[in-house]
Amino acid sequence: MTEDRKERQRDMYRAPDPAEGPLTTDQGVAVDHTDDSLTVGERGPTLMEDFHFREKLTHFDHERIPERVVHARGAGAYGYFEPYESCAEFTRAAFLQDPSVRTPVFVRFSTVQGPRGSADTVRDVRGFATKFYTSEGNYDLVGNNMPVFFIQDGIKFPDFVHALKPEPQNDIPTGASAHDTLWDFVSLQPETMHMMMWLMSDRAIPRSYRMMQGFGVHTFRFVDAQGRGTFVKFHWKPKLGVHSLVWDEAQECQGRDPDFNRRDLWEAIEAGQYPEYELGVQLIPEEDEFNFDVDLLDATKIIPEEQVPVRPIGHMVLNRNPDNFFAETEQVAFHTANVVPGIDFTNDPLLQARNFSYLDTQLIRLGGPNFSQLPVNQPVTPARTNQRDGYHQSMIHKGTNYSPNSLGGGCPALAGADGYAFSHYAERVEGHKIRKRSESFKDFYSQAALFWNSMSDWERRHIVDAFRFELGKVGAVHVRERTVEQLARVDYDLASQVAQGIGVALPEPGANNHKPQASPALSLDNLRGDGS
Ligand code: HEM
Repeated sequence: MTEDRKERQRDMYRAPDPAEGPLTTDQGVAVDHTDDSLTVGERGPTLMEDFHFREKLTHFDHERIPERVVHARGAGAYGYFEPYESCAEFTRAAFLQDPSVRTPVFVRFSTVQGPRGSADTVRDVRGFATKFYTSEGNYDLVGNNMPVFFIQDGIKFPDFVHALKPEPQNDIPTGASAHDTLWDFVSLQPETMHMMMWLMSDRAIPRSYRMMQGFGVHTFRFVDAQGRGTFVKFHWKPKLGVHSLVWDEAQECQGRDPDFNRRDLWEAIEAGQYPEYELGVQLIPEEDEFNFDVDLLDATKIIPEEQVPVRPIGHMVLNRNPDNFFAETEQVAFHTANVVPGIDFTNDPLLQARNFSYLDTQLIRLGGPNFSQLPVNQPVTPARTNQRDGYHQSMIHKGTNYSPNSLGGGCPALAGADGYAFSHYAERVEGHKIRKRSESFKDFYSQAALFWNSMSDWERRHIVDAFRFELGKVGAVHVRERTVEQLARVDYDLASQVAQGIGVALPEPGANNHKPQASPALSLDNLRGDGS
């Protein structure tokens, strides 16, 4: 079974057992002394020739690598995925065909904004990234615990993250979202409003990674054996239901136990209480692409489950903690462009940017082009490429490495037309080069209002309190006012409660202020897990 293949592969990379022999240098030379450096006499200078001393310090001096530019703080675990039944009707992806096939996975949960050493229970989005080691190569589903995103186009990502991160002059704040630059950006880019409603809700302070949903966010594409496409949105639902902390608890945890969420994950797995998640899909036939009020390529919008129900297709169990945080959780490299035959992209401009950005950032974070050779990143299928050399090359390749090649030797043959190889979905595309999106991208408020309308009274209270707390820390009065103006377009009552709490004037009720009616057909009830 492939699950065993990943474990066997990890075994090959485990460092020698310390109990089986003496301490050595990097060259394997036994060492009998590691506490005193070699000096001239008892009180003389240290000698350059002390190679053990120099090697030990040099290695230590180089132990840190850059942390991820976002999602720096995380916790990971291994496990497996099993489909409930064959999904051949929609996709030819091998790992979704046979309920008896277990595919090994590695999952990394993360916060987005804070550095590696920040607290777990801050108000933030959580990453939920899964690497499936399938028999056809690695597939990465790199999602979050909220179904939408802040921006519609990846070209804005550097601006958004610069605004979200600590302020450049003093690096404050390091672990929370409350500061002027974020709210300045948000109030000037109203496409963020839907996501900001999620961020101010209790979803942003999950009680446990075991009790958190995950979403692929974008619309992706399944492709079947005949090359037919079906749009797909991915949903993870935790078997334990969705549970959040309340704000006071979250703040107390930051002080008492900054590792609250990662400790919970680690201890549950050690205790054999394996976290479990169901994978569901919303499937949309290609011919229905334009039958929605929203554009499927807009990652700031959901497709309500009342319109397209979530169909459960499999489940994932996390049952093994990593052996080494750095080697595995830190060095794992997820990438939205890691897809397998049967799963493909859409033209969502946010997804297209991500397909560039992850590999690009990992080239520097993991020190060159060979990080897919690291044990946590290696596929369980052999990677036979013509790529050679570069920093940290650890394979010994034989023979030539170019194609076409009549001399034989090293160059692998191309896959035949037996359906095994990846082939990009043959979407017909034609048009002018422009920087413009469809009209529905400009509706920034309807789904933010939909979210607000679907909340119970106590959930609304928490949202208002969160806006008051966060905006109350913003020094620039015009930024507070402009944010309240944006909120008035989502819901006037929400805006008025927030305005009262932070001492700014409310705009006059007017044509621009939104008083939407809750539509039963568009409630978000189904998006909530049990216990939310
Ligand atoms: C990292 C999710 C948008 C760039 C991550 C991680 C997750 C994630 C889960 C952490 C991966 C890990 O655990 O190693 C998302 C989601 C997005 C989104 C769900 C929107 C729907 C973007 C965009 C960009 C971007 C638009 C850039 C154009 C990055 C980068 C990293 C990252 C550079 C660090 C990767 C690394 O160093 O390994 N993202 N992200 N993300 N994301 Fe995104």
